[in-house]
Amino acid sequence: MKRPPKPPEPRSSFRERMLRLLAWYQGAQRDLPWRHTRDPYAILVAEVMLQQTQVSRVVPRYDQFLACFPTWHALADAPVADVIRAWEPLGYNRRAVRLHRLAQAAVHRWDGDLPHEPELLRCLEGIGPYTAAAVACFAFGAPVPVLDTNARRVLLRLFLGPAKAQERELRALAQEAVAALPEGQAPAWNQALMDLGATVCTSRKPLCPRCPLRADCRSALWMQRANERVAEARGPYRALRLKPFRGSSRYYRGRIVHQLRLLPPGESVALEELGTRVKTTFAVTELPWLYRLVATLEREGLARVEAASGLTLNSELGHVRVRLP
Ligand code: ADE
Repeated sequence: MKRPPKPPEPRSSFRERMLRLLAWYQGAQRDLPWRHTRDPYAILVAEVMLQQTQVSRVVPRYDQFLACFPTWHALADAPVADVIRAWEPLGYNRRAVRLHRLAQAAVHRWDGDLPHEPELLRCLEGIGPYTAAAVACFAFGAPVPVLDTNARRVLLRLFLGPAKAQERELRALAQEAVAALPEGQAPAWNQALMDLGATVCTSRKPLCPRCPLRADCRSALWMQRANERVAEARGPYRALRLKPFRGSSRYYRGRIVHQLRLLPPGESVALEELGTRVKTTFAVTELPWLYRLVATLEREGLARVEAASGLTLNSELGHVRVRLP
C-alpha cells in the first residue's frame, strides 16, 4: 500500500508558535492561588498537593493549609499529627508526613531559605526532579522546563506529532523551548503548556477547534490529513451506502479500521486503547470481544495483530497491539 504523504510542515516557526501560546496564556490563564505568590514554601506546598490531587480539589484547601502553616518554620515546628489532620481532605496522607519532614530538613539545612538551583533543591529528600524544577521556575524564575503530564502532552502534539516520542527527544525539545524564550517568560511558558493541556489539548478528546495553535500543530495536521484521506477513499457515493446498524459487529469493525487508519504509518495501538477509541463505554471485560473482532479483521487482511495467536485471558490480551497490515 502507498504510504500516506507526510503532513504539511507547520507554516509558523518554532518561536512564532511559542509566542502565540504565550499570547493565548495572557488571556486564558487559570487564576490559581499558587500563581499569586513567589514564596518557594507556598509553591512547594502547592506542588506537593497537586502531585496526586486534581487542581479543583486543591484550590479550596490550599489557603486553609497555608493559614495553619504559613512558613517553613511553622510547619517544621508543628506536631506531625496536626499536619496530618490539616491534610485530611486531600487524601494520600503520606504526602503530609513527607512535607513535614521536608520542612524540618529545609529549616535544619538552610534555615528555611531555599537555594535557587534545581540540583541543590534535589538534595532534600522528597524533592524529585519535577518539584525541583517547579520551585526553581515558579519561585525563582529559572528558565527550566517544568513538565507535568499536561505540558508533556502539549509539547509532544504541538512540535513532534502523534507518534510516541523518546523521553530524550521530549527533554531536548523542552530545553530548546525554554532557551528560546524571551527573558523572564519561563513561568508563563510552563504554565501556558499546563493550562492548554488541562483545558484544550486534553488527553482523550482535545478541543482542537478552540486551540490557538491548531493551524500549526503537528498532531492536528497529521489527523486532518489522515481524515482527508479516509474521506477521499470513501468517494462521493458514501451517502448512498447503507450505514451499519449502530452497535452491530459491522459497526464496530468499521470503527476499528477507521482508528487503525488514523495511526501514523507503521504505528500500532494497544488493544485496550483501541477499545476506548471505538467505544466510549469500553470496559476491560470486553477485551475478548474486541480481540475476536480484530482477529476476524486480521483473517480478512484488514488488520495485523502483534502477539502470539490463541490468546484468551484478559491479562494476555493486555499485551496485544493492533495496526494496519
Ligand atoms: N501552576 C504551577 N504548578 C502547577 C501545577 N502543577 N498544576 C497546575 N498549575 C500549576
